[in-house]
Amino acid sequence: MCGIFGFVTRGDRALGDILLGAARRLSYRGYDSVGMATIDGAGRIDLRKDVGKVDDVAGRLHFENMSGQRGLLQLRWATFGAPSQVNAQPHLDSDGDLVGAHNGNVVNNVELRERFIAEGLTVRSTNDGESCVHAVELFMKRGAGMIDAIRQAHDILEGDYAFVIGAADGDTLYAFKKGSGLVAAIGDGFTCCSSDLPSILPLTDRILRMEDGEIAILTADSIELRRVGDLSRIDRRPQVFTGGMEAAVKGGYPHFMLKEIHEQPKAVAELTRLLDASPHVGRMVAKMQAARHLYYVGCGTSYHACLIGAVYAARIAGRPVVPILAPQFVAQYGPTLGKEDVALFVSQSGETKDVLNALELAERRGATALGLLNVIGSTLMHKSRTYLPLACGYEISVPATKTFLNQVAVFLYLALRMGGQPTDLLRRLPDLLSETLDTSEREVGRLLAAFDGRTDFYQLGYGLTYGVALEGALKLKEITYAHCEGMLSTEFKHGPLSAVDDGYPVIFVVGPDDVPVLISAVNEVTSRGGRAIAVAEPDPRLVGNVDDLLPLPKAGALLNPILATIPLQLLSYRLSLARGLDPDFPRDLSKTLTVD
Ligand code: M6R
Repeated sequence: MCGIFGFVTRGDRALGDILLGAARRLSYRGYDSVGMATIDGAGRIDLRKDVGKVDDVAGRLHFENMSGQRGLLQLRWATFGAPSQVNAQPHLDSDGDLVGAHNGNVVNNVELRERFIAEGLTVRSTNDGESCVHAVELFMKRGAGMIDAIRQAHDILEGDYAFVIGAADGDTLYAFKKGSGLVAAIGDGFTCCSSDLPSILPLTDRILRMEDGEIAILTADSIELRRVGDLSRIDRRPQVFTGGMEAAVKGGYPHFMLKEIHEQPKAVAELTRLLDASPHVGRMVAKMQAARHLYYVGCGTSYHACLIGAVYAARIAGRPVVPILAPQFVAQYGPTLGKEDVALFVSQSGETKDVLNALELAERRGATALGLLNVIGSTLMHKSRTYLPLACGYEISVPATKTFLNQVAVFLYLALRMGGQPTDLLRRLPDLLSETLDTSEREVGRLLAAFDGRTDFYQLGYGLTYGVALEGALKLKEITYAHCEGMLSTEFKHGPLSAVDDGYPVIFVVGPDDVPVLISAVNEVTSRGGRAIAVAEPDPRLVGNVDDLLPLPKAGALLNPILATIPLQLLSYRLSLARGLDPDFPRDLSKTLTVD
């Protein structure tokens, strides 16, 4: 949630382009308001912020002509306080001597605001980022130096957050991390810090990893790390980051989403190589096989991958798995968890609060917590006992695409290993995915007219394709703002069938072994005038019964759910564009949900 960036250099210079570039690269983290502040050598703070996306606000407020010796910026995704100019960050303290911004959540924000007001501080907004600034101000007003004030502020600011703050005096920025992402970096003649690497990598690759409870003191030439508890120094050297920045730019595609969809053949090839070489796979498989109860736990798209993973585990390895949404895992299985149980926590970002809450509970009850994640260095990576990376590279677009596909591929791999079977099957995926991409790019366009004027759809699946249908429906909802429900095909006749009228589109995701089960649901729809669209391998029994077919290559039941994902992703993408929307940044959503 939200993104912050801070930059310190020697003497005053133009900072607008540097800050604006960083803001653009962070824009996937928050985009309902944007703000920048610079501090020059004379201690003047220039603060500009407003509601809107980066380039709109930059155009209005002329970020490009900002200059100074230090700069900070924030992109907001509203949680506390509506998106508004006053709630936009950075924030000033009462006298305008401090400027700071945060990401994450200060959960006792309301109480703190009352306290600050009672103490005579000037509170201007309802945003919790302002509380971070006032908390530091409060202790400085009582005589503490900046770093000691940050130490004391940490004692009263509850929640998971990171912030960056600077005083008008001096030449330093301070960054503090507690529960939210924060990295620092050193370049030639500057240092910087950010919620995430993409904003930093074009500037420098010398990265200083930060842990929770650490304060970074940034000057133009050095970064000093201190523990917040006793302010003792931490001796940690920067490391050269070798991951590259390629994925953080669109690479010729009009949207990150389309680029990421097309990266899937490569991503799955990379993943398979990594899994084949990973010593963690054997360890995880042994733990999963020995578990009394095995849970696959996630939210949103990651949960849908869990649904498919559980079917793989049962079918291939005879291993029952409970796929479950993270908060429901807490509510339903929390009291029953014990040390014989294993839970695999699945999260692209590795920062989803619902998932981390569930993980903490599992750990408290002695269960083994395993992780499946894309973001290396994420909280899930640090907190799980063993983890597997999804190896997708950055996924910038808010709708998850390549990470879903690789999650499902990992589940297939793990099921094959649990069942003692060879994993060669996955090597066929890159070619099959490329073929599916080519076909689907051609076929999907033809179908868009079927959805004209419609705001309600269903996607139905069965067995292995149940999770695919739910995921297809989520993608459609997320980026077209239409209502689309994913459902088990056999459930449709138990109620939703009554919604079908002339031309009503229903998408059937049909596994090659499930044609006989799906065919009755198809006919229930078509006989009521509905439009049945199948995503399936061409099968004469199906072709004669549906109105449209989005064809998949013949690849068999196990690879089918992975391939079926492609046309559904492309359909959502094209429909989003047809409705004049931006699929990368759907309204009101954020890529990383670090809130309860
Ligand atoms: O980072 P995570 O995988 O934990 O995120 C969970 C969901 O918020 C996420 O999958 C969300 O549903 C996607 N943006 C949907 O495309």
